Amino acid sequence: MKFEIFGGKTFSGEIEVSGSKNNTLKILSASLLFKNPVVIENVPQIEDVFRMNELLKDLGVNIFYKNKNTLVLDSRKVKNFKLSFDTAKKLRASIALAGPLLGRFNQVVFPYPGGCVIGKRPIDIFLSAWKKMGANVSEKNDVFCLKAKKIKGTNIVFRLPSVTATESVIMTAVLGYGKTIIWNPAREPEVLALIDFLNASGAKIFGAGTSKIEIIGRNGKLLESKKPFKIIPDRIEAGSFLILGSALANYLKIKNCNPEHLMSVIGVLKDAGVQVKIGKNFLEVQKPKKLLACNIKTSEYPGFPTDLQAPFVVLMTQAYGQSMIFETIYDGRLNYIEDINRMGAKIIMCDPHRIIINGPTKLRGREIESPDLRAGLAFVLAGLIARGKSLIYNIYQIDRGYEKIEEKLQKLGLNIKRVE
Ligand code: EPZ
Repeated sequence: MKFEIFGGKTFSGEIEVSGSKNNTLKILSASLLFKNPVVIENVPQIEDVFRMNELLKDLGVNIFYKNKNTLVLDSRKVKNFKLSFDTAKKLRASIALAGPLLGRFNQVVFPYPGGCVIGKRPIDIFLSAWKKMGANVSEKNDVFCLKAKKIKGTNIVFRLPSVTATESVIMTAVLGYGKTIIWNPAREPEVLALIDFLNASGAKIFGAGTSKIEIIGRNGKLLESKKPFKIIPDRIEAGSFLILGSALANYLKIKNCNPEHLMSVIGVLKDAGVQVKIGKNFLEVQKPKKLLACNIKTSEYPGFPTDLQAPFVVLMTQAYGQSMIFETIYDGRLNYIEDINRMGAKIIMCDPHRIIINGPTKLRGREIESPDLRAGLAFVLAGLIARGKSLIYNIYQIDRGYEKIEEKLQKLGLNIKRVE
């Protein structure tokens, strides 16, 4: 499957944001901590969610769709704590299941998480935290086996505010014995949404969004879901549409989003001369006559999100002047630059984390393969900006995180098709 795009057109219209991929993956994992069925609303229909559902079913969780965006999960009968390897290999976020399984069964077996090409990401922060909580960790050919007599509360200092490590340690600690403190936790909106969900179901977690989170363990007592949980809007999808609008929209309204989660992106776009109007749960954007070059440095929330770095780089190829982009979160997250240069951009790689873009440059359509989810979206954006035809291969990567992206863009009158 590939996307065929004919670019170079401006457009006007409205677009809807789906539920957050990254919030959904952790809420689904947390369902393992419950003694009754959990109802989750606003679930996006994306590949990563389908893979996570496969992993949960394999563990013995009973899952069914109440409607296309509402899932019901019942983990009362779960006894298996070993992740199925081939599915777990496809999904980096499969490690999010280890936390609740360890918390509930005092043991878990999982493969080194695969999935994203942006480097085989280290899991040292997860492992050292679980060891401190009482787990014995052994590893053989990339399969980890954790066993604990019981999970006990402890003080944990994160060397980096890792998002999934924060969520995982919380999901382990919530059933444990005693109080766990995490210093230097992640503060992303998805972390706060998970904590809201757990606290609404009987957990006692304090300090969400601050530099210190406290979890009072429930001494093995499972959580009880009292009402459906609504997944928060996907701020990365919303930000991707904001960047698309900054490049090509005479007028674009982005609906069902939370502008508060995008303030750092909105701030930079305004510096670039883009008009952004902030509504309660929507944004309005218009491309400027003259887009101005801007420097950004990606950082943990509330800084500029690394997941929007690639789409922003494509936008800056259309800006007047020189932009410096500094990617501080991942190694290997600038691995798509050569493809954009072959479309006509002028981007210099200063070092593995820093590039300089000279703009504006005309982009020409070409054939490209999306290496990962976010660079894939950046290529769609480049194809829509470029003159002529672009073919984007390996679009499974894009379907991992964007629900029916070509249908949403076709509704704006943009020329993009999914072809064999
Ligand atoms: C989450 O990944 C998101 N994924 C990522 O989105 C996002 O890019 C990232 O947070 C940063 O915002 C999900 O939530 C499923 P990290 P996560 O642990 O939790 C290093 C997307 O496209 N690190 O905060 O895996 C790591 O190497 C994805 O939706 C360690 O060194 O990110 C990275 O450099 C891509 N040791 C940095 O921390 C560890 O034990 C941030 O990683 C853990 C992480």
